[in-house]
Amino acid sequence: MLDATAKALFHGLAQVPTLQRLASRYGMAPGTGFARRFIAGETVEEAIAAVADLPSKGLLLTLDYLGESVGSAAEASAAAAEYVSIIEKIVASGVERNISLKLTQLGLDVDRATAVDNMRRILEPADANGFFVRIDMENSPYTDATLGILETLWQQGHRNVGTVIQSCLKRSPDDIRTLNGRGIRVRLVKGAYKEPREVAHQRKSEVDAAFVELMQTLLDEGTYPAIATHDPDMIDATKVYAASKGYAKDRFEFQMLYGIRRDLQLALVNEGYRMRVYVPFGKQWYPYFMRRLGERPANVTFVLKSLFRERG
Ligand code: FDA
Repeated sequence: MLDATAKALFHGLAQVPTLQRLASRYGMAPGTGFARRFIAGETVEEAIAAVADLPSKGLLLTLDYLGESVGSAAEASAAAAEYVSIIEKIVASGVERNISLKLTQLGLDVDRATAVDNMRRILEPADANGFFVRIDMENSPYTDATLGILETLWQQGHRNVGTVIQSCLKRSPDDIRTLNGRGIRVRLVKGAYKEPREVAHQRKSEVDAAFVELMQTLLDEGTYPAIATHDPDMIDATKVYAASKGYAKDRFEFQMLYGIRRDLQLALVNEGYRMRVYVPFGKQWYPYFMRRLGERPANVTFVLKSLFRERG
């Protein structure tokens, strides 16, 4: 089916080194780079400048220093050090203290202990400065390890940390029940990765139906859940369910990605909902960017148009 095919195609293209080199050269060129619609900058300073006007529009934010699939302990340690420095810069800038990160960026492919150590290095200054830290969810081979590391950190007393659950995965109802039982904050998404049919729903209708069910469980039993989607049907289902139960609008928040459906982001703020924008930045933007193209192949037209504008 089309959804899965597009995801698979862009997943494949993301592995092509020539494309990656070309994209890296042109994608973030000052002013004209085609990736700038989705990526807030290559440095934290650029990202902070790019989101300076969000709070005045009533938007909340979470900053994500892009990176994943790091292959050595040294690279993972460098990523953790970079996050510590980013935390200092966020504090100094006065922007909201909320970050998102990925465990393969912190060494999960090297070994579990490396990822846990690097998480602790980040959580120490994060906790001291009142940050919330969201552990993004990667593809299904990492689900158990991600939830296991979160559990370890939780047992060690870290409370300003949460994670993400993907409605495409068949295991998610069980995971959500466990996380709700602990009081751990969950961001609900559909899932950005190409997953095998043994573990994941393949049809959009199934992923959407699961999303609605999980959203209801989270609103009923979760701790300040985040409903992260650009899909107007999912958003409407959330609003209708919350209203039918008499839940206050600040019992949960909506989240969307930087550069996607800005109109809908502002409309939700105007209706009195909490709306957080996920703001990615950094030099390692290519895999994230390709996932966004795979979700909506129409974005390819947008990229091609920007390329021709630049050269024309
Ligand atoms: P769906 O893909 O069905 O799209 C619905 C509509 O939204 C489209 O018709 C279009 O209008 C718009 N839209 C969606 N994607 C678009 C795009 N790329 N460009 C332009 N318009 C688009 N995934 C994951 O596996 N792990 C994670 O940790 C996270 N984290 C995360 C944080 C936040 C804040 C968000 C919003 C999303 C994620 N995701 C994620 C990604 C998520 O799993 C999913 O791939 C995307 O949100 C796209 O799915 P939608 O729910 O938007 O619906």
